[in-house]
Amino acid sequence: MNHHASTPAWQRLSLSEVARTLALEPDVVERLTPVAGPDGPRLSVPDHETADRLLARLNTEPEDRATTLAARPDPDDDPELCWLLDRSARLLISRLGRRPPGNPAWAALPGGPVARHLYVWVFLTVLPYVRDHHADLGLNDDESWASLGALGSALASDRRVNGRPGLDATWGLPMTFSGTGFRLGRLAYERQPRHTETGHPVLRPGESALNTHIPGNSGPLTPAACDASFDRALELARGFPEQVAGFGCHSWLMDDQLAGYLPAGSNIIRFQRRFTAVNDRMRADWAPILHVFGRRFDGPVVPPALLDELPQRTSLERAVVGHLRDGGHWYNQTGWFRRLP
Ligand SMILES: CC(C)(COP(=O)(O)OP(=O)(O)OC[C@H]1O[C@@H](n2cnc3c(N)ncnc32)[C@H](O)[C@@H]1OP(=O)(O)O)[C@@H](O)C(=O)NCCC(=O)NCCS
Repeated sequence: MNHHASTPAWQRLSLSEVARTLALEPDVVERLTPVAGPDGPRLSVPDHETADRLLARLNTEPEDRATTLAARPDPDDDPELCWLLDRSARLLISRLGRRPPGNPAWAALPGGPVARHLYVWVFLTVLPYVRDHHADLGLNDDESWASLGALGSALASDRRVNGRPGLDATWGLPMTFSGTGFRLGRLAYERQPRHTETGHPVLRPGESALNTHIPGNSGPLTPAACDASFDRALELARGFPEQVAGFGCHSWLMDDQLAGYLPAGSNIIRFQRRFTAVNDRMRADWAPILHVFGRRFDGPVVPPALLDELPQRTSLERAVVGHLRDGGHWYNQTGWFRRLP
């Protein structure tokens, strides 16, 4: 008897065949290597109705739901993408609660709509596992769904920025769908490995900080909402095996130049002041252009024609544009603060 008879053809592909056909980058090949073999959990991709229902629960807009459902990979037409879906899902499941290995950004796959939505199908496939993991961590049901709703926000914002549906390179979603990253009220966090060296601004060797993210389109960053979120994070962290001893934040919102433009009482500056900034500036003009204006540009320099198009209604909008026009740059910067659970 041919024992392959019941195994779909895509399951019998090898990583090197898939890598060649899809022109996968070396870091993607490396990250898939541990889960590339034929042995692993048999995962089921949700059927059309289930996927539709889950997508709605994941905060997706109707348009993104429709393009995702229409871009379901087909075992006969897209065997390599089916293989990649399965192995990417296995990878996340094998890493629940630990950051996925290698370069964490999951780059948009080149190709048509199926490729551009492939990772959405990966995230739908691992959903039951992440939900269980959230319960183990102590997240309540609302917190779990609010965390996973990052998928809907990413789909909507990538579609608006690019003018076409599907996901761009995503660093945050593999964190979310491995349960490493989660949202608690106004802020989102990601568990970090233990810190091993001495000389850290706030952590002692063996301790770990939660990395803080500021989701957009979620209302003002009020101190009260931040306090509630940090408190809840510390409460949850009591149950984590790593000794959490504070928070880190790496963002354009931590750029200390913002204090030269925004009032001391503004939410952004009050948020910054919680943290002790380290001088690790990484040039990132793209960050405020993307996060404040929803625009992307190619190359290292913001095109002057783009600056001319940007609205100038708020003090932050004027600061971002004026600073660039004056020849300045914006930076991602890191800050830390110590607090024990
Ligand atoms: C972080 C955020 C919620 C802060 O908003 P906030 O609570 O209103 O912030 P502040 O009180 O400090 O606002 C100060 C000024 O900046 C303006 N401002 C803040 N965020 C703005 C935004 N996204 N777009 C335009 N203007 C903004 C405010 O309107 C205010 O200006 P005004 O006094 O002229 O009205 C908001 O900037 C945001 O959603 N940013 C995107 C998320 C992001 O970048 N995350 C980090 C990814 S690394």
